[in-house]
Parts: sequence; C-alpha cells; structure tokens
Amino acid sequence: MEIVVMPKLGFNMDEGKLISWYKGEGDAISKGEPLFSIETDKTNIDVEAAQDGVVRRLLIDEGETVPVTLPIAIIAGADEDISAAEQEALAQLGGGTAVNGTVPEQSTPEAAAVHEPPRKAPVATPAEKAAGAGDYDYDVIVIGGGPGGYVAAIKAAQLGLHVALAERDRLGGVCLNRGCIPTKAFLRSAESLREVRAAADFGVKGVNASKAALDMKKVQARKADVVSRLVGGVESLLKKNKVDVLRGDADIADAHTVTVSGDSHSTASIIIATGSEIKGLPPGVVRQDDVLTSDTLLELESLPKDIVIIGGGVIGVEFAYFLAVAGVKVSIVEFLDRILPPVDAEIAELVSSDLERLGIDIRTGAKVTSVEGNAVTFEQGGKTESIGAERVLMAVGRAPRLTVDTDRLGISTERGAIVTDEHMRTSVPGIYAIGDVNGKVMLAHTASAEGIVAAENIAGRDVSMRYDAIPSAVYISPEAASVGLSEDDARGRYGDAVRVGRFPIAANGKSMVAGETSGLVKVIVDSKYGEILGAHLYCMHATDMIAEIATAIRAEATAEEVAAAVHPHPTVSEAVMEAFHAALGAAIHC
Ligand code: NAI
Repeated sequence: MEIVVMPKLGFNMDEGKLISWYKGEGDAISKGEPLFSIETDKTNIDVEAAQDGVVRRLLIDEGETVPVTLPIAIIAGADEDISAAEQEALAQLGGGTAVNGTVPEQSTPEAAAVHEPPRKAPVATPAEKAAGAGDYDYDVIVIGGGPGGYVAAIKAAQLGLHVALAERDRLGGVCLNRGCIPTKAFLRSAESLREVRAAADFGVKGVNASKAALDMKKVQARKADVVSRLVGGVESLLKKNKVDVLRGDADIADAHTVTVSGDSHSTASIIIATGSEIKGLPPGVVRQDDVLTSDTLLELESLPKDIVIIGGGVIGVEFAYFLAVAGVKVSIVEFLDRILPPVDAEIAELVSSDLERLGIDIRTGAKVTSVEGNAVTFEQGGKTESIGAERVLMAVGRAPRLTVDTDRLGISTERGAIVTDEHMRTSVPGIYAIGDVNGKVMLAHTASAEGIVAAENIAGRDVSMRYDAIPSAVYISPEAASVGLSEDDARGRYGDAVRVGRFPIAANGKSMVAGETSGLVKVIVDSKYGEILGAHLYCMHATDMIAEIATAIRAEATAEEVAAAVHPHPTVSEAVMEAFHAALGAAIHC
C-alpha cells in the first residue's frame, strides 16, 4: 500500500495546490505513471506513482491546497483492506474532504480551513487612496536618480502614475558615474592590454608587447564617453516615460510633501533612493588627507608606481586587478582572514592565488592602525608592520546615505540603514526606500529590482522582493560570480543534505581555446530534492552566465533540469551543465 503525500519539492515549499488528478478511484496505475499535477508558488509539476496498484482513495479535490507531507491519496491492491490507513489519513488531514464533495462526518469548519489557499492581505496603497482624491501634484516622487531611483520612476510611469524624480547631481547615481560602469570601462582597458601582451601566443606577429602600456588620458576619455552616453540614455528614458526631473537637493517635509531646492511638491507616495557613500576608516585610525577613494582613483590621469589598498572586498580586488595589470605594484591589506569575504571560500582562495600570481601582495588578518606619510601601518599576527607606497586607496565599504531626517519623519532605521519590509515600505505609510539606502544588498541590480517592486506596490499590485537569488559579480579576469548560498553556509544550514558539484575550467574546451584555463564552476544542490542552493563561477563570462542559475533558482528548476538542458558547444556554459552533472553523480568530461 502506498499513502501518497503532498510532496515537498524544495526547501521553501510548505504547501502545494492540486491542479488535477490523472486517475480516478478504482483505476489501475503503474509505477512511474503520472498520478496528479501540483502547483507550487512558481511552477506546475507532474507527480508519478511510486508503485503499481489501484487508486483506492483520492483524499483531496482538485483546486485544494494542502501542506506538504499530508496524505492525499491511497494506492493499494484491489482487495487490500485500507480502512485503517484511510481513517489515519483523514485524521491527519484534519477530517478533510474527499473527491466528489464527500465530507466525512468529523469534518469541522476549522479543519476545512486547513485546505484554504493562502490569501494575501490586500494592500491599500497611498496611490490608490490618492487616485480618487486627485489632490496631489504627483502620485510618486522618487528621491535619487541611480539605478534604483530611475528604474522605479520609469516603472511607476509605465504603470500609469504621474511621477517626478529629484536628483541633485548627474542622473545614473554612483553606478553609472563613479561605480560599476567606470570601473568596468577601466577593466576593459586592462583586458585589451592583457590581450596585446598575449598576442604572440595566438600567432599574432609584429606586436611589441614589452612596450604596451595604458595611456590613462585615453582610458579616462573612453570611460567618460561611455558614462555620458549611458547618462544621456537615462535622461531620454525618463523623458520618454514623461517623468518630471526636479533638479536640486530634495528633502521630505512630511509623508506627502517633498521640497526640491526650496520648492514644495505634494505627492501621494515617496520613494527614497538616495544610495550610499564611501565609508571612512574606523575612528582612531590616523590617516593622511590624500588617501584615494574609488571616486578619486577613477579620476587619475596617471598611475602611481605602487599602491596599498586597504580592504580586500569587491572594490579593493577589482582595483587591485586593474592596477596590477597596468603595471602598478599593488598590496592589499585586509582585516579578515581572507579577501572577498562574501564569496564562497574555495573560489576566494582561487582568486587570491591568481592575484598573487599577478604580483599582488595580499596581507590578510591585518588590522590597519594608521595611514601616515604614504605608509600604511597594520597589526598582523601580533606584529606591527608597515608598507610604504606612492598612493593609498581606501576601500573598506560603503554606508547608506541618509539625506532625510528619519527621526523627525518617524522612519525606522537600523545600523544607519532605512528599515523596509518585502514590499519596500518603510515604517511610515506612503514612504518607500530602495537600493543601498536600505542596506539590504548593496548592488545596483538589487536596487533596480527593489525599485520595480516599490513602483508596482504603489500602483496597487501586491508584489514582494525576493533576496534568495540575487547574483553578485567580481569583474576581474577570470570573472567571479555567485548566486545563492556558499558551500559553508549551505552546510551550516542543511548539514549533510547538501551535494557539491565541481567542474574545473581547465577541462572546458572553449576556455582552452581562449587560453583562459584557470578557474572552477561549483554548484551546491540539496541531495533530496535536487533544489539548487548556490552556484559559484570563476571563469570567462561568469558574470553573464550566472543569470542562467539565478533564473533557474527563481523558476524553481532542479539540478536535474539544468543538467538536462542542452547547452551549446563549445561554450563555457557547458562547465555549468557539467557541474550539475557532477553534483548528481558524475561529470562527463572530467
Ligand atoms: P566591502 O564591504 O565589499 O569590502 C570592504 C573590505 O574592507 C572588507 O573585506 C573588510 O573586511 C575590509 N576592511 C574594513 N575595514 C578594514 C580595515 N580597517 N583594515 C583592513 N580591511 C578593512 O566594500 P567595498 O569593496 O568597498 O565595496 C562597497 C560596496 O560596493 C559593496 O557593497 C560592494 O558589494 C559594492 N560593489 C560591488 C561591485 C560589484 O558588484 N562588482 C563592485 C564594487 C562595489
């Protein structure tokens, strides 16, 4: 006899909705034949019988939602006595229903409620309230024109709202003007230099690789051109979507009034998207005034001979890579016991070795105590050491930028960040906060996603932000990109129910063709359900390919499904497929 239960098809699955029964009571069924289909919160899945027999009882109706592991059917021999199992199953279902509307006598309204599909509480948005009243200048004013703010403004306008966006500087925020885009333009120049140096290996003759060097004025000019074209693009998108851009310093007078350079504008809702600013060294650390930050380094028209970078996070590592390729002698001084703390430890170790091979001196477990006279002094393993260099770059993180008086407005904050719920609402009705200012995940693409969630909620939809499948990337070469849990976190959370699949990039044909054979693809899956828990790529195109796995996680695709999806040959993406094969048993090509 088989008591068929609502299957748990993932760690996050608590209940399933029965879409249809493929068999009726009394039908014979063979092992492997589909018995029913269910809907999880993202997808529909057919579930097969685990043994041969006759479908004796269907315990729930189509359309019902029940918690996972509760019984939903009984398969047994045609003459087998199932009465005890049936009683037990019905008891577990709380006296539940049966097909054809049969409700056993012991059923109670409370028990029936167990099977009710969960209903989301309706959200009465300020915009909805305002829609009837029509007494505000705008439905939404967004403060800040970075990748959070401008995306929120465009989305809100696309949803039919009357929108303004306040910005005191250039549109595009840190990402376009002083962050993601300019650093990637720098790194692209470094890649060109590397290619020129390696040209002879690929059969290119006549290149004097020893003379190849970066012309920082040209690097700067190219960067500025890319940035201004993208900023211009944001301006035209806002115009096309009829978003009013209010130039100047914005402040919030009350929950329905924003002032921009002294002019008051009333609004039903406000989205705070004021971003983040560069963190200083901890109090007590003496520092000289001309320590570089990511902002000022991006403006240099000539490079120093040597540099000490304080902080081995993403900014520190990306600049270290760029500068080392450009010929600068680089040292990284990192407080923790390894660089790239949020990255999977095994991948961070590989990155660290490759950076050292480039000539970068990496000091970990090193607490900086002073920065004076071009020397960085730090304590490491009980000793005090100093590294002198022409310049020092400080890359010890960013902090949310609070330009509004949160205390006066009653907006809750925690450790300097605005507290938001999954709808991006702050503690003040009608005020939302997205991007770095809420301190959740300080990445441009998270800000944009949060902006869309905030705009949709303001427009009356009921949308939540999910943080479990946000990719992150480090733009060095090879690139490093991750999504989901690191191996350590997955093991910490799920213990032995975790399988790790690895595929070395040295065994990937496309990488060999490109001469980029350093690296690893590593995937972490749950051994019971095949759920994808995390993926960590250190290879060419990693930052583009990670989107495949972010999408798979979001769509609740299993490791088997990604492994079975045909990946084109020859590509680096085959290494991803192979890592999933490895997690499920064995990779084909290693
Ligand atoms: P971070 O928080 O990623 O790393 C800062 C590092 O500095 C940490 O490893 C920390 O342990 C170390 N540190 C702090 N105080 C120190 C001290 N006194 N001495 C030595 N080390 C010290 O910050 P980072 O790299 O400045 O980046 C800021 C933000 O920008 C992050 O949220 C990052 O994710 C984001 N970002 C993202 C990029 C990307 O996605 N590719 C690129 C650049 C930045």
